Amino acid sequence: MNYQTLQWTGDACGSLRMIDQTLLPTEFKEIDCWTLEGVWEAIKVLRVRGAPAIGVAAAYGVVVGLKDHRDDDRSDFNTKLAEVAAYLASSRPTAVNLFWALDRMSSVALEHRSLSSAEVHDSLFAEAKKIEAEDRAMCAAIGQHGHVLLESGTGVLTHCNAGALATAGSGTALSVIFAAVAAGKSLRVYADETRPLLQGARLTAWELQQRDIPVTVICDNMAAQVMKEGHIQAVVTGADRIAANGDAANKIGTYGVALLAKAHNIPFYVAAPSSTFDLSLAHGDHIPIEQRAREEISNGFDRRTVPDGVDVYNPAFDVTPAALISAIITEHGLISKPTSEKVREQLKAS
Ligand code: MRU
Repeated sequence: MNYQTLQWTGDACGSLRMIDQTLLPTEFKEIDCWTLEGVWEAIKVLRVRGAPAIGVAAAYGVVVGLKDHRDDDRSDFNTKLAEVAAYLASSRPTAVNLFWALDRMSSVALEHRSLSSAEVHDSLFAEAKKIEAEDRAMCAAIGQHGHVLLESGTGVLTHCNAGALATAGSGTALSVIFAAVAAGKSLRVYADETRPLLQGARLTAWELQQRDIPVTVICDNMAAQVMKEGHIQAVVTGADRIAANGDAANKIGTYGVALLAKAHNIPFYVAAPSSTFDLSLAHGDHIPIEQRAREEISNGFDRRTVPDGVDVYNPAFDVTPAALISAIITEHGLISKPTSEKVREQLKAS
């Protein structure tokens, strides 16, 4: 099945079409977001999710949010742009790609001070398309750089979903797997279920099945046993924000998987584009961790699984220290045993 996680339809006054990922794997449905509020809600409730995809959605969200302001005078248009960007920035706090994309969009308006509002809106539309196209290219390059790490016969564990559904292209962690398979290697993928929202079971398993790549879903608490039994030779995950020293935030549970990989002497790889790095943060303790609603845990399977009145804690991300990461795979190549110096060198050289 051919599918595109998100795509723009129409001219600069068109809409953002996306797969509603909350419905997978039982229903494949695309929705059209015609309003700014619609894009914000789609990001907030994870109809579109995954750091790079959130960035692309936010860029198009700016275009949606300003399409009724093409006839405004420039200073009103600039004020509205700041409002729209601030509103989209309030949707989710952890994936830095969201803020990176919004900053890129805002600087387009600054660069084109003498243009009319309609002309700037056209430039914003062009910039959003550019961000989308770049994301696709970054995914492909990550796959090419990363697949050399996986030999044929490898059992690969992944956590959450860092596939095509999480980007505008073929994914980050899954792009590495797709490239390895395209190079003729045979792999068996183990997908952590990824509680509480089941991105591994619902989305990663669905994507791999679409491509006929063997995949086995395990509950998150089974990873240690599956490693001990010798089924896993490599772990590959994505990231939502990587600090200057290589500490990497990703879906809750990733840190535990990295510790388990260390204990079993299994390499742990993080695949992420340069748009996921936040060099303004010296280390991962500064990365904001999204806290989500208790119902995701207490009513996760359409039934109440926690007694009323019992506290629930629901951080959506955790941070894996750089010391546990064997290599970060970016579109520019590998950063082995990441340190601040190596991260800076590679991002500077790009
Ligand atoms: O809450 P989500 O589903 O947006 O979390 C997504 C992840 O943690 C992914 O692993 C990460 O964004 C990398 S996507 C290429």
